[in-house]
Amino acid sequence: MEVIKVRDYNEMSKKAAEYITSKVKSSTCINLGLATGGTPLGLYKNMVLDFQKNKTDYQHVTSFNLDEYVGLSEDHPNSYHYYMKENLFNYINILKSNVHLPNGKGVSLKKECDHYDKLIKGCGGIDVQVLGIGQNGHIGFNEPGTSFGTKTHVVKLTESTRQANKHFFNDMDEVPTHAITMGIQSIMNSREILLLASGAEKGVAINKLLQGDLNEQFPASILQLHPNVTVIADEQSLTSHISIQDITT
Ligand code: GLP
Repeated sequence: MEVIKVRDYNEMSKKAAEYITSKVKSSTCINLGLATGGTPLGLYKNMVLDFQKNKTDYQHVTSFNLDEYVGLSEDHPNSYHYYMKENLFNYINILKSNVHLPNGKGVSLKKECDHYDKLIKGCGGIDVQVLGIGQNGHIGFNEPGTSFGTKTHVVKLTESTRQANKHFFNDMDEVPTHAITMGIQSIMNSREILLLASGAEKGVAINKLLQGDLNEQFPASILQLHPNVTVIADEQSLTSHISIQDITT
């Protein structure tokens, strides 16, 4: 695992955008796995700025988002479909037909999950997966205790995750109780992973990610077994570290 230590959220966002746009520019066809939440907002902002300035082409890019809430329609302002359009897709030239998110409004959620896995596989798998990390170590919406072998599935959100996402909603009652998420195995199948972290509240999670044991109670720990993970983390999220050998600055 390579750890790139940056000063703050802005630097993390710029570095992450450089990382992704250079992959996009140097490929003729690329599948990106994308994440939501507060952490990647700056990455997307910088990708949009880069598109405006450098005209980076996204017509050969296919995207797969990690997760979506169950029960929210695509045009619901708190759905991840809406988030992605508002923060990225509406401002770059990615083809609408190449954009994929799980369908949280499907009649059979189980079928939606199987369909999503087949879709990813049919497109050749994910080349670069962007990840945030939950304070309890969740990746996507894979909460503590999720089997490392899971594919795309429906999850019941923990109260701590609902609390952490509450600020996007008017009140707690509106925060969905379930989501569809790519599974841990689906994430591990990506050829490359870029995990972003910023802020002191992520300190414990980053510490466990880098130095803790492999444990299904801390889902992100599985990334220790992935051959190609880059973590871009700011100083605040890394403050509890004293013994990281492989930090590049
Ligand atoms: C959310 C998302 C995750 C995200 C994580 C951290 O619940 N489902 O994909 O990485 O929690 O969110 P944030 O970046 O807002 O801290």
